Amino acid sequence: MTFPPDFLWGTATASYQVEGNNRNSDWWTWEQGDGNILRGDKSGLACNWWENAEADLDLAAEMGTNAHRLSLEWSRIEPEPSVFDRAALDRYRQILKAMIDRGIEPMVTLHHFSNPLWLVEKGDFNSEIIVEYFQRYTARVVDTLGDLVGKWITINEPLVYFFSRYLEKEFPQSEKSGLWAGREAVRQMLRCHAAAYHTIKDKYPQAQVGVAKNMPIVEAKPPGSRVNRWWATRVSRMFNDSWLNAVEDGRVRWPFGRGKIKNLAGSYDFIGINYYSRYYVKFPPGKGFYEQDWGAKAIVSDGNYGEVYPYGLYRAIKQVLRYKKPIYITENGLPDIEDKNRPAFILDHLRQIWQAISFCYPVMGYYHWSLVDNFEWNAGWTQRFGLIAMDPETQERSWRDSGRLYSEICHSYSVSSAMAERYAPQMLPVMFPGDLPIVAAKQLQ
Ligand code: BGC
Repeated sequence: MTFPPDFLWGTATASYQVEGNNRNSDWWTWEQGDGNILRGDKSGLACNWWENAEADLDLAAEMGTNAHRLSLEWSRIEPEPSVFDRAALDRYRQILKAMIDRGIEPMVTLHHFSNPLWLVEKGDFNSEIIVEYFQRYTARVVDTLGDLVGKWITINEPLVYFFSRYLEKEFPQSEKSGLWAGREAVRQMLRCHAAAYHTIKDKYPQAQVGVAKNMPIVEAKPPGSRVNRWWATRVSRMFNDSWLNAVEDGRVRWPFGRGKIKNLAGSYDFIGINYYSRYYVKFPPGKGFYEQDWGAKAIVSDGNYGEVYPYGLYRAIKQVLRYKKPIYITENGLPDIEDKNRPAFILDHLRQIWQAISFCYPVMGYYHWSLVDNFEWNAGWTQRFGLIAMDPETQERSWRDSGRLYSEICHSYSVSSAMAERYAPQMLPVMFPGDLPIVAAKQLQ
């Protein structure tokens, strides 16, 4: 399965999860609270990127990737309101240059779940000032780093943020929480997005600015029930469509309110899909909102993170075709400390992308989450997403088989039956039925 010569082969990370010592961030304070992070894990040095991202970028280059998605930590760049830290911006410049020097094209996210503490004190996404502050932060970043960045994401997974912070309360809490505050926050995030989009485009009209939208497949469980099916459609519309429709036509819709937001219509150049899993829902929703009853045959990743459902990626791609924009898979991965399922996971998800490309669907790149194991938010270090394993105690790295497989794929711009045979032979009959006789013949030898 050959991929186009300009395809982007990437990995993805977020600042708080890899940099270490982000003490001015709301997540740092949240980590100190009892019961907020599984086992009481701490991010600590994380992957030590603030000191030495270069070491992992060397590994990314060795892997053969030509793209990487990273995020900037607002709390480093603006540690106090209106005080911008030149040294922090310089360090980001250095990291971006280190990528480019290694043939790795950066895609930069401005906001990935974490906030400066001072902003939280001012009410962050529930405040009046947020749009102005976000716009100003963006302007400073664009002024100092914009010449190095061709692709931007404004806000990572706004609806995961809405869900995890305001409804599930798994993310740092502040004064306001719950559905009403969350709806208000989503509207403010849309305004922030629009402001950031135009700030970037005013200075760099050729820059590509998009959104990274988590796109789960939502299905009814049990599927026979009409009310469950009705609810699954509503949830998908709320979770998957509302944000994209809003940036398309500028209108806020159910359940986030009504009305038009200025300068929002058309404020995106590409769609970033973060795809992980399929979720089942029933009405009324039970505790945890999603049903975890995946069925006996399902492959479920570590810590009940989710079902492995590669075809869902193809379905997610089809779902966004109507927007007629280039598509990047800006995140895709699974927690799998022993690397039992990751090789097959990669092969099968890439097969879905290959299939989409073969129908001329505009999928331009793939960013695997993640390059190295990193701090998985409220799951701490219990969930390991890395192509490369990382021991947070010793900072030691070791390649997983899936990392070797991804490396072969990136170097060759293809997925082959030989790779499947080596890394996940169970995938051969699924992916390359035509090659079966060869394998069978080999087995006979
Ligand atoms: C987030 C990442 C996270 C990953 C794995 C995505 O929703 O953007 O920050 O680590 O999922 O759970």
